[in-house]
Amino acid sequence: MDIKKKHGRYERLYKQLEELLKKTDNPISRMATVAAVLHHKMDCYFWTGFYLLNDSKLLVGPYQGPVACQELTKNKGVCWAAINENTTIVVADVHQFTDHIACDARSKSEIVVPMRNNNAEVIGVLDVDSKYLNSFDDVDAKWLEKIVKLVISNK
Ligand code: SME
Repeated sequence: MDIKKKHGRYERLYKQLEELLKKTDNPISRMATVAAVLHHKMDCYFWTGFYLLNDSKLLVGPYQGPVACQELTKNKGVCWAAINENTTIVVADVHQFTDHIACDARSKSEIVVPMRNNNAEVIGVLDVDSKYLNSFDDVDAKWLEKIVKLVISNK
């Protein structure tokens, strides 16, 4: 998808999510809604979901796509790297990422965005996998960071 088209698509999804998320403050319901909208509206999204920190474990939350690992081995893989470095990570080719955790062998590229609470503490991540190499860039990073902020209600 070209950059302009991608911007436009995310802009529309963002507005749609803003409307949908007015209906509940419950974070699990909000994450489920974000995962469903993104997964079904973005072309290359093969696995779309959340991993949430719970007693120092990283456990799967609401998602769409093939069955995924329920717990990610501590300090391994892209999701833990995004948490430990407290930053978005874009991986063009997962096989080049040293300790990438392959929940599904078909995933080829990935983006992971930290999700923070109202005290700016990381509480989990939004993780998106694609079956194609090099699917994600700065445009995805920018919009997914904005979308993840919608999950935590400021009300
Ligand atoms: N690839 C991730 C694991 C989660 S799955 O992609 C759904 C990782 O390396 O942390």
